[in-house]
Amino acid sequence: MADRKPLIAGNWKMNLNRNESVKLVRAIAESISDLAETEVLVSPPFTTLSVVKEAIGAAKIYLAGQNMHWETAGAYTGEVSPAMLVETGCTHVILGHSERRSLFMETDEMIDRKAKAAVGMGLVPIICIGETLEERDKGETFQVVRRQLELSLRNFREQKTMPPSTILAYEPVWAIGTGRTATPQQAQEVHQFIRQWLNEHFGSPAAEQIRVLYGGSVKPENAKELMAMPDIDGALVGGASLKAETFIRIIRFHEA
Ligand code: PGA
Repeated sequence: MADRKPLIAGNWKMNLNRNESVKLVRAIAESISDLAETEVLVSPPFTTLSVVKEAIGAAKIYLAGQNMHWETAGAYTGEVSPAMLVETGCTHVILGHSERRSLFMETDEMIDRKAKAAVGMGLVPIICIGETLEERDKGETFQVVRRQLELSLRNFREQKTMPPSTILAYEPVWAIGTGRTATPQQAQEVHQFIRQWLNEHFGSPAAEQIRVLYGGSVKPENAKELMAMPDIDGALVGGASLKAETFIRIIRFHEA
């Protein structure tokens, strides 16, 4: 099995002002100076990316946009291009978060275009998928996840190749911001399904290298047991990434 280094990613959503952002990222930087076994990423709103980048300095914290457009430039009021993210210091971009899908009508087809554009610009896409509670209750979890994978990774599928640096995030919608986490077994089941799907389409070396994060009410109290699952390679953390104390404890899940 490939040696997949865990990634703990903080999705700040539409939270934190400049001062709070700088303070938080400095505290994270300080706390990880001796940490080699886990990678760390933060994803602030567009308006604080620059100031957070500056505060990161030489610390090993990756920076991600929370969204982007697939076009390189043009008349797209309110949008940000892949090149703009790169220029601001981003190495990654979160795509297709369930809030983008449900509140801003993003479709798998749009996410597919974005994923292609991100890779073309040298950004690592973090592509989010996950079922709603209704879909889970109807027993459609695997079907929904498969459909999202097939459509939002369509371009990679057609090319029969997906950069092994690509990151997927399984975030059951019913677990996001609700305090209701998937059990490690529930999450592992879907992560394993995702890895099998990757194997079918991209072969074993890629499937073994691509990291699949879990997201949805990850907290210091449940991070260790989730991360212990063989196909869970890190976490995409919302609420608990906004406070240094809780985020640092999640980053240091090994020590819990
Ligand atoms: P949460 O959010 O940790 O607050 O549930 C996760 C996410 O939306 O990425």
